[in-house]
Amino acid sequence: MSRRILIAGNWKMNKTSAEGAALVKEIAAGLPAGNLPEILVCPPYLTIPAVVEAAKGSALEVGAENVHWAASGAYTGEVSTAMLLDAGVTHVIVGHSERRQYFGETDETVNQRAKAAVEAGLVAVICVGETLAEREAGETAAVIDRQTRKALEGISDLAKVVIAYEPVWAIGTGKTATPDMAQEVHAQIRAILADLYGADAAETVRILYGGSMKPANAPELLAKKDIDGGLIGGASLKAPDFLALVAAGANA
Ligand code: PGA
Repeated sequence: MSRRILIAGNWKMNKTSAEGAALVKEIAAGLPAGNLPEILVCPPYLTIPAVVEAAKGSALEVGAENVHWAASGAYTGEVSTAMLLDAGVTHVIVGHSERRQYFGETDETVNQRAKAAVEAGLVAVICVGETLAEREAGETAAVIDRQTRKALEGISDLAKVVIAYEPVWAIGTGKTATPDMAQEVHAQIRAILADLYGADAAETVRILYGGSMKPANAPELLAKKDIDGGLIGGASLKAPDFLALVAAGANA
């Protein structure tokens, strides 16, 4: 089964509207002709309209970095699926480790956010990953199992699900999981999906790697059987780097 590679930029809390629009224009202008991977950029909420506008007519899709599960209501600081759809968003990251670490996200809230996204027709890019302490304690497999199963609770169809394996110790640190380390966890995630949804459905799901992915290490990572793309932070903020990652995705 061949899965289309997905190269996704997670801009985090970077770029104003003007800067984000300029980056998208630069990326779009630099895209090679021919086969492309699926390409996604996820800017901060406030800059989504400018980025969607700049991406119009290009191969770039626009995602959000989070979403709330309720349709509307007294949830100060949150944004609903309807608001994202209204703004032209197609994907949303949920459960990023920075949300879990700094903003109190739990397996439970990640599940609620993922479920709401999928039900609304957004593609949920669900992040899972172990901390350094968990890896050193030999708990990686248990953490991945718990986070993945809980995030998917109540989601009956995988058509709108992407999983991102992001070892927390590799995010923004310059440390990358070796391709073999990443592949081992990706294979575990696919086995969990097969257990929950059947082998055929599991084969259709993209599992992205995230954590200091850059042009230099992307080809080796993307060559692995169960690594179907990247969720990229730092290297997604500069057009030449992101374009090199897109090229790596096209050649994988
Ligand atoms: P990084 O971030 O590429 O800067 O390590 C990845 C992520 O957090 O999604």
